[in-house]
Amino acid sequence: MKNLFNYFTRESKQSSNTGPPTIVEKETPKTSVKKLEQSPTSTEAPKTCPASLIKKTKRNDSDSFDEGDFDLPKFLKKSEIKDSNMRRPDDPDYDPTTLYIPPGQKFTPAMQQYWEIKKSHFDKILLFKLGKFYELFYLDAITVQGILDLKWMGDEQKKAHVGFPEKTLEKNAAILIEKGLKIVVVEQTETTVKNRVQKAGKVVGREITEILTKSTFSAHYMSSDHEPAYLLSVVEIQDNFGIVLADLSTCEFFVGECNREDFRNLIYRSRPSEIVYNQYFLSGNTLKMIKALPIPPVFSMIKNSDEWNPIKLSEYFPEDVPKIIASLPMHSSMRALVGCCYYLKNSLIFDRTIGIGQFKVYQQDLIHQRYMNLDSQALEHLEILLANVGKEKVVKGSLYDFLNKCSTPFGKRLLKKWVTSPLMSVESINKRLDAVTELISNKEVYKVFDKAASKLPDLERLLAKLSAYSIKSNSKAVYFEDVGTNRLKEFCSFLKFMQSLQSLMSDIESFDLQSEGLVNIIKLQSYDGCFPDLNPLCNELFSKIQNNNGEPEPIEGFCDSYDDVKSEIKTLKNSLQNELLTERARFGNNPEIKFVDSKFRYELEVPMYLVDKSKPKDYEETSGRNGFQRYYTKNIKSLADKLVVTEERLKNELKPFINQLMSLFYANFEIWKKAIDLVSEFDCLASLAKVVNSTAFTMSRPYFCSDSSEMEIQELVHPILASRVDNFIPNSVHFTEDNHCFVLTGPNMGGKSTILREIGLATIMAQIGSYVPAEYMKFSPVDSIFTRLGASDSLIEGKSTFFVEMEEANKFFKKGTKNSLVIMDELGRGTSTEDGSALAYAVLDALAESKPKTMFTTHYHMILIDIREIPGVVMTHMDSVLNATTKTLTFLYKLKNGECPKSYGLNIARLAGINENIIKVAEKKAAEEEYEQKLALVTGMLKKLKEKGIQNPMPYIQEILNEYNN
Ligand SMILES: Nc1ncnc2c1ncn2[C@@H]1O[C@H](COP(=O)(O)OP(=O)(O)OP(=O)(O)O)[C@@H](O)[C@H]1O
Ligand SMILES: [Mg+2]
Repeated sequence: MKNLFNYFTRESKQSSNTGPPTIVEKETPKTSVKKLEQSPTSTEAPKTCPASLIKKTKRNDSDSFDEGDFDLPKFLKKSEIKDSNMRRPDDPDYDPTTLYIPPGQKFTPAMQQYWEIKKSHFDKILLFKLGKFYELFYLDAITVQGILDLKWMGDEQKKAHVGFPEKTLEKNAAILIEKGLKIVVVEQTETTVKNRVQKAGKVVGREITEILTKSTFSAHYMSSDHEPAYLLSVVEIQDNFGIVLADLSTCEFFVGECNREDFRNLIYRSRPSEIVYNQYFLSGNTLKMIKALPIPPVFSMIKNSDEWNPIKLSEYFPEDVPKIIASLPMHSSMRALVGCCYYLKNSLIFDRTIGIGQFKVYQQDLIHQRYMNLDSQALEHLEILLANVGKEKVVKGSLYDFLNKCSTPFGKRLLKKWVTSPLMSVESINKRLDAVTELISNKEVYKVFDKAASKLPDLERLLAKLSAYSIKSNSKAVYFEDVGTNRLKEFCSFLKFMQSLQSLMSDIESFDLQSEGLVNIIKLQSYDGCFPDLNPLCNELFSKIQNNNGEPEPIEGFCDSYDDVKSEIKTLKNSLQNELLTERARFGNNPEIKFVDSKFRYELEVPMYLVDKSKPKDYEETSGRNGFQRYYTKNIKSLADKLVVTEERLKNELKPFINQLMSLFYANFEIWKKAIDLVSEFDCLASLAKVVNSTAFTMSRPYFCSDSSEMEIQELVHPILASRVDNFIPNSVHFTEDNHCFVLTGPNMGGKSTILREIGLATIMAQIGSYVPAEYMKFSPVDSIFTRLGASDSLIEGKSTFFVEMEEANKFFKKGTKNSLVIMDELGRGTSTEDGSALAYAVLDALAESKPKTMFTTHYHMILIDIREIPGVVMTHMDSVLNATTKTLTFLYKLKNGECPKSYGLNIARLAGINENIIKVAEKKAAEEEYEQKLALVTGMLKKLKEKGIQNPMPYIQEILNEYNN
């Protein structure tokens, strides 16, 4: 294979381009390695430091807030802030995660606890539990108040203190995380009552329970967004990338190694939400590449290189390193895994993620064998996941969006994997296509499926969440919300949903479907590729739970400690009832005397008329209402306190029960997962069928052949444009061994780029098992699609357009084969006419050797004479009609054989309403420039032809000049 960099040696112009010709440049780390004591990670720049985020709040739009508006402790003042090592924020070694608090400060006991935590999590928003509320102080309060639209506590802004109730944590945390903030949640480990009963006045215990970031959030909560928020741990060692890509919502971990090119593709495909890295194991160029992603991730740096040492793997997996990982001989991936483990451990979710992790090897070779190679450029240029709307990238208008008619969140996620991983095996593609074909003609089947499936929650994530409950937690956090009961309810509803899946599959089975792909999903056979029998498993688990007044609890006899506490509660409640009878007896057994739960539990409510004259001496007033007074006696108070504490114990006794129950559940993880995976697959196949039945244009089943040079597509349209535009004009192309390269010319706006994209999209659609937007398509599976379309985002990576063009074209020469599809739109546009046209020629000439199916547009009409001589090239153009009198152009959008005589740029200007006088001047200028350009081109060509050993270039030059003179 030729290397384009060698083939086409650039000269003088190269130096004027900003892009460096080297691919990777190791950046010398600016900071020295520093041992982190308390805070494990550091933000790459102190930009998530609360102080600098203040500008994001609604209240304060300016860069800084006015310190005079708030009563801040002195050590929080901008002029005073230091990290734990007394470094100021302008120090290159400043650690934004820590805060220096000078000795001798006087805090209340609760605030003492607050600052103990805050000083090692200064970069995070601290949500500090006080009773039923999360409260935020000082800079955190100032940052968050505007974002969450909270009222200042006691309406006093000066105190910089806000809060929100326990039950709004998930909603509020999600909003803050979306803003790129990190959160640390601090819970109470005992209730105030328990503290009062047991410790008489000591401060309530508290602990950190959650550290929430964009990726870790999904390990705790079921986000409404079905998209995975991937965590990517990466280690770069001399162009070799060790990676761990983790979806913490489903606990899937992909571990492996890849080269720079595959790393780039990986991040474009997965679009990670958070990157964990070390400054010594990630080059400046890679950082730039990551930052250039359409939605840049949050960066979490683990500064201490020791925490990336592969030797530490055995510390994280003391018993057994998962087999699949142990089989990896890869050094960098082990480092990335160790870094990932460290991060998860410090985020307090190691057990609930790695502990139940499903590890998969990310194997570059296997991926290339099984799937079409769709690199980051192809994904971007063909708008597979995101479409370009102006400078924005949006899902609407992408191929994924067009094909997504899935009913479940897990189906949507699988479809996204399908569209980015078209298959290579004709057998597998046809299996999907058979299933889609059968569903197209059986609409009733997917209607039945949709009706049930659209009601399903995100079962895949729920499965991971429930599995995590099988891990014993040491947390003592107490919640006012009944967490244990809620978990049990969640579990019961999961089981019911799984049972409903099974009955859904039996309903679908009654349609007697025949295609192998569908039969393998729905047939209720033994657990062997077909839908598993879930009912016995569900019944077994349900048998451990009983219903207690609508609340689930363990059946008697399953959990002794739970039963014991329950009977203690019963005794206490009986004793309280006896106390009530005793108190009523004091007033002639008056039934109006009752227990109420108002300010406290079991307050004795007595009608006023009974006590206004003589109140028993031992009655301690608690609260009252109109006509009634409420009291505690010593006995009642003591029993009520005991009851509260014992009920709390009962809640805690649910934990070991849930643990035990979830272990039984987790033992069959594979079966639950299989059932959900099969439903996802059905959802995707049904989605592809629904697309065919809902489009106004023709879609047909693609066919495959063994001749790798063959690709015939008749009456093809662009699926997204044709859905929006009436009368979209279809086109046909036929690639063969002798006609493998279509060179396309035509006026601006004539539909050139559109037809290029159409072919790419149809190929991808066919290989994922979808119908294609054409009357007919036959081809042999394409191994790669190489694209060069439009300006690339790599400009942000610091590469010039020309460099990117060279790099992209060069990719083909490194990896392309006869089975590849090459789509090049105006190659050479990023440089001078001379260089650009020579590059275009050189690329086409080189492609003649390996003969990939190529679609190539160009505006360099001057080189067409040369190009048409290249073997395999077919000259085509997009048809249009020029009205000689009005000089207006009508686009016909039809692909025609032969070259288009002119590019009609000025006619387009006319169409756009530009003043006729201006156009006339432009026409004159264009003629002059064209002459200049041709001269420059002749010089360039002369050189090139000499290099190629063509001794007599005069006929070529003559031809160019003749054309000009005509
Ligand atoms: N086959 C078609 N049928 C109907 N309208 C079309 C067709 N192809 C393209 N168009 C319309 O023409 C517009 C321009 O098409 P396109 O961008 O492909 O032109 P182009 O030849 O690549 O132009 P340029 O040379 O400026 O890049 C499209 O946005 C679409 O609205
Ligand atoms: Mg174009």
